[in-house]
Amino acid sequence: MYKRTLVTTALPYANGPVHIGHLAGVYVPADIYVRYLRLKGQEVIHVGGSDEHGVPVTIRARKEGITVQQVVDRYHNLIKDSFQRFGISFDIYSRTTSSIHHKFAADFFRKLYDDGKLIQLTSEQFYDEATHEFLTDRNIRGECPHCHAEAYGDQCEKCGHTLSPDELINPYNAVTGNPLTKRETTHWYLPLDQYQQWLEHWILDQHKEWRPNVYGQCKSWLDGGLKPRAVTRDLDWGIPVPVEGAEGKVLYVWFDAPIGYISNTKELCDANPDKYGPWEKWWKDPETRLIHFIGKDNIVFHCIVFPTMLKAEGSYILPDNVPSNEFLNLEGDKISTSRNWAVWLNEYLDDFPGKQDVLRYVLTANAPETKDNDFTWSDFQARNNNELVAIYGNFINRAMVLTHKYFNGQVPERGELTDYDKQTLEEFVDIKRRVEELLDNFRFRDAQREAMNLARTGNKYLADTEPWKLAKTDINRTATILNLALQIAANLSIVFEPFLPFSSASLRQMLNLGSAEWDNIGSINLLEPGHQLQPATLLFEKISDEAIQAQLDRLKRIKKENQQAAWKPQPVKADTNIDEFAKMDIRVGTVLECEKIKKSDKLLRFTIDDGMGGRTILSGIAQSYPEPDKLVGTQVLFIANFPPRKMMGQESQGMILSAVNSDGKLVLASVSQQVRNGAQIG
Ligand code: MF3
Ligand code: ZN
Repeated sequence: MYKRTLVTTALPYANGPVHIGHLAGVYVPADIYVRYLRLKGQEVIHVGGSDEHGVPVTIRARKEGITVQQVVDRYHNLIKDSFQRFGISFDIYSRTTSSIHHKFAADFFRKLYDDGKLIQLTSEQFYDEATHEFLTDRNIRGECPHCHAEAYGDQCEKCGHTLSPDELINPYNAVTGNPLTKRETTHWYLPLDQYQQWLEHWILDQHKEWRPNVYGQCKSWLDGGLKPRAVTRDLDWGIPVPVEGAEGKVLYVWFDAPIGYISNTKELCDANPDKYGPWEKWWKDPETRLIHFIGKDNIVFHCIVFPTMLKAEGSYILPDNVPSNEFLNLEGDKISTSRNWAVWLNEYLDDFPGKQDVLRYVLTANAPETKDNDFTWSDFQARNNNELVAIYGNFINRAMVLTHKYFNGQVPERGELTDYDKQTLEEFVDIKRRVEELLDNFRFRDAQREAMNLARTGNKYLADTEPWKLAKTDINRTATILNLALQIAANLSIVFEPFLPFSSASLRQMLNLGSAEWDNIGSINLLEPGHQLQPATLLFEKISDEAIQAQLDRLKRIKKENQQAAWKPQPVKADTNIDEFAKMDIRVGTVLECEKIKKSDKLLRFTIDDGMGGRTILSGIAQSYPEPDKLVGTQVLFIANFPPRKMMGQESQGMILSAVNSDGKLVLASVSQQVRNGAQIG
């Protein structure tokens, strides 16, 4: 049995704001978990912070013409603020640029180095002769060998293949655009291969209880055979490698960042020794249980690399569980910081002030616990309006308002219970055990569903017993019903606390109750008769169609901007010559008539004055010209010597020329001033 729990959440990169994917995948589940343990009175801390090293922050700084420190300061503060406003209850949220962390991570490296746990290897790496720098994977771009899109040196975002820079076609420096050469450089490596057997035993035999997605990913890494991994880089942003002759080298970001969990714990404990004790208690005592909350792209680092670092160092505990989620998509597309395809937490709070719990609720209800999941605004609205408002909020509001109306806001006495009352109570005697079992197994979605089911039970109880009708004829029965309803409400304020902390606080305020205790769940004596309630306020309110439409419009605009930004000219076609061109008879004509062809949503029929008696041409541009008669009188270009052919039963005598615009619409080609019909282009 463990004595205390140390919860860590992946340190987000300080290269942009955090979005709903971060919240759903890592921070909300972790927060539910630590709030739950705290309510149970367990000893637990939640350690987090920003990951401020690595290449992306340096790229961002160069792009914006500011220093890297300015970039990480900006995003660290923004991220920290977003988490705080969403009620993510960290015991500490620090950063990897802190001096405590720099020293701690350097010392950790030095210990491994002194103990001979690292190996030194020299290899050829890509080098930019113009800027005199070695390039890391992320700083290299080139053509993807699989799909031929522009890709990074470590991954192609288009087709998803993991890459190494050597596989890229025509690699170049992502920042300067310079082509790259190769040079020798020396680095330190963590020899994961030497830990293969130990890892196999520790994970595959001893941690079969890990989530299938986590276990499966570990197994496939292990089955593939582990290789030594470089833990240093040629970069100037990061923690200098604390070894002589290592100038210009820093610790690899994935080496120092997880050590941030430890150094941030140390920072917390050093500042509050009475409250938290020495940091070693959290990291070196086998009675501490270590849990890492992460997203699925972090699995290998938390299940294989970091545990190997801890094991090599020798004095640390290892993670007990690594509940990793899959990904959350947004309206069917992968969330992407660079493509702005995300719902940013800071923007959400501007658009939906005070609605933190709504997002927490929806993200948990749709949590990507076992597979990737989709966030849609219509689901967001439906869950708010049909569940939070119509069930939970409605129940609380009725119980509160009726108690104020008939009993001056004082909890009424409970008389004898009817069979129906008992039946209702039966549905929730077991709730504590059920929710606990789910939360203990990191099944947050199902746990929240249990909580909502309790609200549903309460709501149904009031709808079925209709105390507002009974008040005139049977005030005692009304009293019993409202007493029970209020006891259920008090239970809800506890069960929902880990999930919806803001609403629970308002509800407990209305109920005039102090802080919640988990062990009280299931009791129907949480409110004494005569206990005075506060005035009723609404826990949730409806979200309008307009508010949802505004979000959808924003996404539509972003999609369009992305399409425009992604546009690239088609490669120039193979060589041809004037003789080939001369075979084309391209002419000018004036549109005499233009109309849609019935039964086709693409085709328009043009009647053209071609200076030779006129002709009919069909053209598939109806979607770009919804009002075809407006084209009458304009001059167009057409190919005059295509043999006639039939389309939709009608004859077309040639082809009208057009170009594609940035929005995908076709635009008719024309001449820059009026010419006579039938004139040839050449
Ligand atoms: N910054 C990484 C990411 O966002 C996560 C780092 S987790 C830590 O993917 F373990 F390294 F801290
Ligand atoms: Zn690709």
